[in-house]
Amino acid sequence: MSAVPAMSPQPVLEMTAISKTFNGLRVLKNVALKVYAGEVHALMGENGAGKSTLMKILSGAYQADAGGEIRIDGQALSAFDPLSAKARGIAVIYQELSLCPNLSVAENIYLGRELRRGWSIDRKAMEAGCVDVLVRLGADFKPSTKVSVLSIAERQLVEIARALHANAKILVMDEPTTPLSSRETDRLFALIKQLRDQGLAIIYISLLLIAPNPQKSYHAYFLA
Ligand SMILES: Nc1ncnc2c1ncn2[C@@H]1O[C@H](COP(=O)(O)OP(=O)(O)O)[C@@H](O)[C@H]1O
Ligand SMILES: [Mg+2]
Repeated sequence: MSAVPAMSPQPVLEMTAISKTFNGLRVLKNVALKVYAGEVHALMGENGAGKSTLMKILSGAYQADAGGEIRIDGQALSAFDPLSAKARGIAVIYQELSLCPNLSVAENIYLGRELRRGWSIDRKAMEAGCVDVLVRLGADFKPSTKVSVLSIAERQLVEIARALHANAKILVMDEPTTPLSSRETDRLFALIKQLRDQGLAIIYISLLLIAPNPQKSYHAYFLA
C-alpha cells in the first residue's frame, strides 16, 4: 500500500463499524473504509462478499445496521438517503448501468437536473453544457447522440460524465470491467488514473485483483 498523500488533511470519506444484516444473516461485519481525495481504492472479495451492499449503503440505497457511521469531509451523516448522498458528492456506477437508452447523452447527463426555458426542456443548453466534461473524458461521441447507439464502454463514460458534471468527489465503480474488452479496460484504467490525479476519490470494486494500477499505488481492501 502506498502512503496517504499529503494533499488532504482529512479523509473525504470515512466509513466506520458498518454492518448489514439481511433476514438475520450478517453480510457485513464492522467494515471500516477511509478514503482521501486523489486515491484509488480497490474493494475486492468473492461473489456474495458484500461489496455491492457496502456501496449501496454509501449511496444511500440501503441503511446500515445501527452503530455504523459515515463521514464525508469529516462531517457525520445521520439520515442517509440517495439524494443526500448525491448532494454530498457520492456517485455510484452500478454494474447494471442506469441510463435511459432512448434519451441523448446530454439528456442523460442532466437527468433530474434538466435545464429549462420557460416550460420546455432546453436541449441546446444541455448539449452545450456537457461538451467540456465529454472532452475531459476523451469521449468521441456527441452530446446529442442517443445512448442506445453507444457501446457499453461508451455508456460507462456517459455515467462517469454525469458523475463529474454533478461535481462528484467520490466515484464508485462496481465491477466496471466485467463487460469490457481488454482494450476498453486499459482505457478505463487510464481514465481512472487521470481522474485520481485530478483529485477524485475512486472506489473500484472487483471480483479479482484486477486493479487500475499495477504499480500498487492503490489501496486494497478485501471483504470476506
Ligand atoms: N436486498 C437484499 N436482500 C437480501 N439479501 C441481500 C440483498 N442484497 C444482497 N443480499 C445478500 O448479501 C450478500 C452480499 O451480496 P452483494 O453485496 O451483492 O455481494 P457482492 O457484490 O460482493 O457479490 C449476498 O449473500 C446477497 O444474497
Ligand atoms: Mg456485486
